[in-house]
Amino acid sequence: MHVTPIEAPCGARVTGLDLRHELAAERISDIRQAWLQYHVLVFPDQDLDIDDLARFTLYLGNFGEDPFFNPIKEHNNIAAIRRNADEKTSLFAENWHTDWSFQPKPPIGTCLYGIKIPPKGGDTLFANQHKAYDELPAGLKHRIENLTAIHSAASGYSSTGLYSERKKQNVGRSMDIVTSDEARRTHNHPLIRPHTETGRAAIYSTAGYIEGFEELKKQESKKLLRELYSYQGSPQFIYRHVWKPNMLVVWDNRSVLHKATGGYEGYDRLLYRTTISEFD
Ligand SMILES: [Fe+2]
Repeated sequence: MHVTPIEAPCGARVTGLDLRHELAAERISDIRQAWLQYHVLVFPDQDLDIDDLARFTLYLGNFGEDPFFNPIKEHNNIAAIRRNADEKTSLFAENWHTDWSFQPKPPIGTCLYGIKIPPKGGDTLFANQHKAYDELPAGLKHRIENLTAIHSAASGYSSTGLYSERKKQNVGRSMDIVTSDEARRTHNHPLIRPHTETGRAAIYSTAGYIEGFEELKKQESKKLLRELYSYQGSPQFIYRHVWKPNMLVVWDNRSVLHKATGGYEGYDRLLYRTTISEFD
């Protein structure tokens, strides 16, 4: 197994493994170490089926719960990230976020496996939030250090949210998204969170899932969330991932934000996704 760091604020390529076969405990532990160090691991040229993807996911934890996607029919824990060539809907996941941060125990990681990858566009961006924390200007750091963030999925997945079937931009969406008023439920997490395994501090999640802060008034919260959002996605924190078919990427939601990009109109795109929850 070879781990080659990518020249970026996060990310490494892992080669020399065939993920169609079960891995030895020692290799799994090497993968975990690399994952904790680089936050985003890229495994190119892996010809995986559904069971291989599921097995790989379970090396790192249990399956997470995906409340607002229906799974693919072949597997309860795999969701399809899909966009058809002729689709006119708004792009999915185009804002910086960390997956399902509104859950009491959000997924520690996410796997994404490229099946149909357009020849151009569709890059995934990652922003290293340990680095973002470490480089916070003193004034901003002081303002946010002890804040409690109120998370919910309402802005995306409630009946009036970004992905609501009632909205014109979502008519004909090929992804199987299920909006519901369950999305209005809130859960708090500290804004600055130590990583549960490395202890390194990170700015956890961002505007979108964070709707405000316990300690601040609504208007102050909104203003700070806008300021933070632009800081958290600054170029010096970003790795731009370019996809190829048969590429598996696994990232650490405790360490990075991610977002989708477009630019592949006229091409089908399909990836399979699993989320990873912490081992019990
Ligand atoms: Fe996501």
